[in-house]
Amino acid sequence: IMKKVLMGTMAIVMGALFTSCNKGNGKEIIRVSHNQAADHPTNIGLLAFEKYIEENLGDKYDVQIFPNELLGSQVNTVELTQTGAINFTVASNAILESFEDIYQIFNLPYLFTSPEHYHAVMDDKEIVDPIFKSTKKSGFEAVAWLDAGTRNFYTVKKPILTPDDLKGLKIRVQQSASNIRMMQLFGGSATPMGFGEVYTALQQNVIDGAENNELAVTSNKHGEVAKYYSYNMHQMVPDIVIGNERFLSNLSPEEREVFDKGFQIISRVQRDAWGDSVEKSIKQAKEEMNVQFFYPEVLPFQERVLPLHQEVMTSNPKLVPIYEKIQEVGKSMTGGKENE
Ligand code: GCU
Repeated sequence: IMKKVLMGTMAIVMGALFTSCNKGNGKEIIRVSHNQAADHPTNIGLLAFEKYIEENLGDKYDVQIFPNELLGSQVNTVELTQTGAINFTVASNAILESFEDIYQIFNLPYLFTSPEHYHAVMDDKEIVDPIFKSTKKSGFEAVAWLDAGTRNFYTVKKPILTPDDLKGLKIRVQQSASNIRMMQLFGGSATPMGFGEVYTALQQNVIDGAENNELAVTSNKHGEVAKYYSYNMHQMVPDIVIGNERFLSNLSPEEREVFDKGFQIISRVQRDAWGDSVEKSIKQAKEEMNVQFFYPEVLPFQERVLPLHQEVMTSNPKLVPIYEKIQEVGKSMTGGKENE
């Protein structure tokens, strides 16, 4: 881990040197950081962004994508994006809540009733725009959201079939107060850590399991160690692409237009790749990694953590109107289906 941090720091220092050199050629380096592998939909989306920006503004900007936590884990890279050492980073909504608590809303377990509900809410500008712009004062702005599927438990020694199976188990969670509280309510023992540390922690029995979408099993290889994946469906937590505020506000209106188009391209390309990737991932997990998939009854899991909704609304009342709007979108969708 230390090595990674060092490498990250070195990359930035070297990058900084490069920027000053490159200014002479008139090119500014745009650093984009994320924590996924090269085959992950997020990287594919970002490569399409790079191509688009360089096709349109290539005489001025050189976009460089750094995957695999090369520049650091998400918490670090959000900080580096605030200062401007990095221009853009992909951060899970989970960790953004410690930078601006309005992001707590999308970390609520069982907030969305289906992927369709999730997509409809995240695509609803009236709901997300005020949230996405809320961190300008902290030095960054959210420019796009990316699908990160549904989060489920996966474990090393035995499958999770009921919430009681979590008792006494150490489960890795993202570094977020909401997720720690959620694990407490589920009855497991929350072990927060960065994404890049999870594989080794599973392998060395520092943790008994983790929770994530299917790609963590294959693309991040957690399935080499954890063989039981249970669809208890507790969260759909989006990934958020954030950009340094100073960089974005210094763009000319014409450039900003190109970048905005670029952000849309990341979303579209990432989402197109997502569905296929999940299917491939499940197949690969089953056939090449011997991972077993389980479909436990979801309701008992839901009942454990639903009190979190009320808790969060009480402690953070500005979320109430957003929460209600999200419920409304959900109802209008079921309504639509019933009428079909
Ligand atoms: C998913 C998500 C990442 C996140 C990771 C995690 O892979 O896409 O943004 O960092 O989960 O659990 O930390």
